[in-house]
Amino acid sequence: MDNRPIGIFDSGLGGLTVVKEIKKILPNEQIIYLGDTARVPYGTRGKETVIRFALEDALFLTKFKIKCLVIACNTASAFAYQEVAKMVGIPVIDMIIPGSIGALRDGKTKIIAVIGTKGAIDSNAYKSALKKKSRLVSIYQIKCPLFVPLIEEGEISGKLIKLVAVKYLSPLKKLNIDTLIMGCTHYPIIKNIIKSEVGSNVKLINPGAEAAVYLRKHLLKNNSLSELKKADDKYFLTDLSCNFIYVAEKYLGEKISDKIRMASL
Ligand code: DGL
Repeated sequence: MDNRPIGIFDSGLGGLTVVKEIKKILPNEQIIYLGDTARVPYGTRGKETVIRFALEDALFLTKFKIKCLVIACNTASAFAYQEVAKMVGIPVIDMIIPGSIGALRDGKTKIIAVIGTKGAIDSNAYKSALKKKSRLVSIYQIKCPLFVPLIEEGEISGKLIKLVAVKYLSPLKKLNIDTLIMGCTHYPIIKNIIKSEVGSNVKLINPGAEAAVYLRKHLLKNNSLSELKKADDKYFLTDLSCNFIYVAEKYLGEKISDKIRMASL
């Protein structure tokens, strides 16, 4: 048993999709979330900048005596996993490894598309992880830089986001993909829009959900599940936007405004 909290960070709202998956299967765990809303997006920044931001995020969370850290951001996972893991000295779970394993799990996957931020796609992190595990798959990568700012602005339904989804995803129709990795933790918020564009025969992989299963296995194996009856979650933000609370509460299906605190890194 280990009642210490789990630290989770992202550039903004996206990591909440990972929080939701973790809370589904690990309801007794206490979550300390950090959304670096003052500096979102990370996906358009250079590698060195993302590494610096990720190290600052991780350092902030380690002050809460967390038992493990989840990098709930594909861009930071792609650029900064090694640096963060080296600095914190506790188990660190990223998005790329669980997402890649999830995409290949059924052994039938042949043609995979990965959608993500400019940084995550340019890093080729998914491509290399997938190629290492299977030489038989074809991989297409698509950058979707407008999704994150639109989602952060609360544009999670309606014409605008649909139009952008058509622009990015319609080329996939000709490629006969069987699997699509949502390689940015913001994307599950618009999962239905993505699904309607790529078609229901395409398997959608949510790396955050895969990471949650990975985390549960890790905690079980190390006998470090929490036994808290009521976990006192906290959501730290580096800047407050009304959209954050609106989208967060809509997506998580619970009130979190009283759990939000400001963070200075
Ligand atoms: N949600 C993050 C990701 O998974 C970061 C998006 C961004 O800040 O650009 O990549």
